[in-house]
Amino acid sequence: MITIKILTGSVRPGRFNIQPATWIYEIAKKRKEIKVELVDLQEVNLPFLDEPVPPSAKKYTKEHTIRWSKIIEESDGFIFVTPEYNHSYSPVLKNAIDFVWQEWNYKPVAYISYGSAAGGTRAVEHLRTIAAQTKMYDLNEQIALANYWEHLDKNGKYQFTKENDQAANALLDSLIFWAKKMKEARKELNS
Ligand SMILES: Cc1cc2nc3c(=O)[nH]c(=O)nc-3n(C[C@H](O)[C@H](O)[C@H](O)COP(=O)(O)O)c2cc1C
Repeated sequence: MITIKILTGSVRPGRFNIQPATWIYEIAKKRKEIKVELVDLQEVNLPFLDEPVPPSAKKYTKEHTIRWSKIIEESDGFIFVTPEYNHSYSPVLKNAIDFVWQEWNYKPVAYISYGSAAGGTRAVEHLRTIAAQTKMYDLNEQIALANYWEHLDKNGKYQFTKENDQAANALLDSLIFWAKKMKEARKELNS
């Protein structure tokens, strides 16, 4: 059994983020072969990085870092749900990534983004460079919701389409395949 964690990339009051994050979580939950968890950075509530030693050394001194390390350690793959802020991803996501390092290594990551005409793709391009540095396996699969506000109903609820659901399942197929392979590979690396 592998574990996939979905990270919310916005903690703003009234954030749109929780809608695509919950949507992919509900679809992923239908997969019997995985354990899936929605990790809401609003609840995790990390301060700005406050460890004296660079995270790659894994010498944590703070309770919140140890807790965060465990959350990331026990996952075999990730979905980052990211907004686009000034053509990049959010500071809360960067801070959460920076807190630990080895825990990300050799695990696949896929993306869901949203924003105006570019659908948050510029944010994801930046995340891909971070994925390389954290030794993650950066998947091609990505869902980008362009001008998302045009697809909200009168209650502010995003109207996901059949095509969106198909793309979500293709993303999950790839993520699960690589999460399994990389879990095996990590065992080899550690032996
Ligand atoms: C600080 C800030 C910068 C933004 N910059 C961009 C941008 O560069 N590109 C874009 O498509 N949308 C941009 N937006 C609009 C966001 O796409 C929109 O506000 C979205 O709802 C933010 O995600 P959130 O509600 O989950 O926080 C920006 C929003 C904020 C708050």
